[in-house]
Amino acid sequence: MNADTLRQTAQALIDDDKGLLAMDESNPTCNQRFAALGIPQTAEARRAWRELIVTTPGLNESIGGAILYDETLRQCLQDGRPFSQALEQLGIQVGIKVDAGAKALAGHAGEKVTEGLDGLRERLSEYVAMGARFAKWRAVISIDANLPSAAGIAANAHALARYAALCQEAGLVPIVEPEVLMTGKHTLQRSADVSAQVLHAVFEQLHVQDVLLEGMLLKPSMVLPRLDSDHQDSVHEVADATVTVLLRAVPAAVPGIAFLSGGQSAELASARLNAMNRRFIARVPWALTFSFGRAIQQPALDIWRGDPANVQAAQRALQHRAACNRLARRGEYMPAMDGVA
Ligand code: 13P
Repeated sequence: MNADTLRQTAQALIDDDKGLLAMDESNPTCNQRFAALGIPQTAEARRAWRELIVTTPGLNESIGGAILYDETLRQCLQDGRPFSQALEQLGIQVGIKVDAGAKALAGHAGEKVTEGLDGLRERLSEYVAMGARFAKWRAVISIDANLPSAAGIAANAHALARYAALCQEAGLVPIVEPEVLMTGKHTLQRSADVSAQVLHAVFEQLHVQDVLLEGMLLKPSMVLPRLDSDHQDSVHEVADATVTVLLRAVPAAVPGIAFLSGGQSAELASARLNAMNRRFIARVPWALTFSFGRAIQQPALDIWRGDPANVQAAQRALQHRAACNRLARRGEYMPAMDGVA
C-alpha cells in the first residue's frame, strides 16, 4: 500500500469544491429506472445513457470522480474510447462499484448484509489494470421499530472494513458507504440515533482492520425523517442533525464526507448540502460534498427518455445539477437557481 498515493487520490477527488457522480447502478436497478420511462432495457441503451453523461459539456468543472458499474468499465464511447479513458482525459477519476449487492442476513428478517468479499482481491487488481483509482461498497441499514439489530450493524460494519482494507492494499481509495434508508416510519431523531450507532460501529471496524483514514472517503446518508412523512423537518434542522451526528462519530483524519442522495429530490439534496456548508464550513474538519446518483441524473434522465433528439437538453440539466451541487459545497446554492421561490 502506498499511503501517499491513497492520500493524494482521496484529496484529488474532492479538491476545488468538486464532488462525485454515482453512475454505478447495477443492471437491474438501471433497467428499473429505464422501464419507468419507457426506455429499452438493453446494454446499448445503458451505454448510450452513460455516454450522454460523460460527454456532458463542463462536467469536469464540478465532478472530480465518477463511479462506474462493471459493465460500463468494459464499454466504449461511440468514438471507440473506453469510458475510463474518456473520463481520465477530462481529469475525472475513475471509480468502480465492487460489492455484489445486499442479500438477506441469515436469521434476521428484514435485514441485509452486503456480499462480495470472496475473490475481491483478484477483482480489484483487474479494476486497477483497467484504470480504476477508487472503489465503492454500499451497506444498507433499514430502520423499523426493532431494527437495525446489533447483528445487522456488526455484519455490515465488518464487511465495509474488510473491503476498505483490500482496496487500500490494491492502491484504490475506498468509498465507505453505510446507507441508512429513508424508507420506514422513523423521525429525524430516530434517524440520528441509528446513524450514530452505525457510524461508531463502522469506524471501530475500520480501526480494527488498520484502514488509513486519510486514504478513504465516507459516503453516508443525510440524517432525515422518513421520505413520506407528513412532517418534513426544515433544511436547517436536517443540516444541524446531520452535522451533529458526523462531528460525534467521524474522525478528523477522514478528508471528505460525500453524501448519497437516497431518493430525496434533486433540489432538496442541493439545499440540504448547502445548509450544512453554510452553517458549519468553518467548524468541520472534513469536506462536506456529494456523491449523488439520482439527485444528479434523474432530471436529465426524465428529459432524455432514450431519444437522441433530447441529448443536449438532458446534458444541460445534468450540468446544471452538478454545478448547483458544487455551489452547495461552498454554501452558495440558492433555491431560486432551480426556480424555487
Ligand atoms: P443515490 O444518490 O441515488 O442514492 O445514489 C448514490 C449511490 O451511489 C447509492 O449507492
